[in-house]
Amino acid sequence: MDRGIQDIQFVIKDYLKKTISVGDIVVDATAGLGRDTLFLAQCVGAEGKVYAFDIQEQAIEATRELLRRFNMMSNVNLLHESHSNIPNRVPNGVKAVMFNLGYLPGSTSKIITTPETTIKALEGALDVLASNGIITIVVYRGHEGGLRESLALIDFLSNIPKKDFCVLQGNYLNQGETSPYWIMIQKTRRIANESP
Ligand SMILES: C[S@@+](CC[C@H](N)C(=O)[O-])C[C@H]1O[C@@H](n2cnc3c(N)ncnc32)[C@H](O)[C@@H]1O
Repeated sequence: MDRGIQDIQFVIKDYLKKTISVGDIVVDATAGLGRDTLFLAQCVGAEGKVYAFDIQEQAIEATRELLRRFNMMSNVNLLHESHSNIPNRVPNGVKAVMFNLGYLPGSTSKIITTPETTIKALEGALDVLASNGIITIVVYRGHEGGLRESLALIDFLSNIPKKDFCVLQGNYLNQGETSPYWIMIQKTRRIANESP
């Protein structure tokens, strides 16, 4: 059933579908159960490329299994390593990067994304992003460590240069202080030698 805006990803996935074209290069920075990786693979099609990162073997296997079920493995590079390696693994000119922070659904909430690696990954993602490319982040504050990560992210993203990037945040106003929220970042800086 379509949950509309009760689904925190509703707005960002709608926007990503309009932004991503067949043949694009995109990144899932937190593969988890593979749902976002599958979504991205479907957006870029067989001519595109998805780089999907996760530090947990269990997440990589779940993602591989989901992609196989949908016959979508061929254009996905599954990387069992930290998203802080984005600059070493991903070429320039990426159209979209998705971050879905927190812990693997249905698994231990002890293995979580952390401000240190998330911000390092974001720095890398901001670098490899194409002009007009988009980074989306879903931030969860309800688990231990979530609030610390949220505050660090807000601090970091409030201070990236406004001449190069536009940062937008989407909150629920009536769902409590620890409800999830999303952030979208668009690279507004033109890049030399890049086709429009
Ligand atoms: C909320 S889940 C992602 C959900 C996923 N996008 C999906 O569609 O099912 C967060 C994931 O981030 C992963 N993670 C934590 N730290 C990471 C890191 N440094 N690099 C890459 N993945 C990380 C966790 O293992 C977990 O699977």
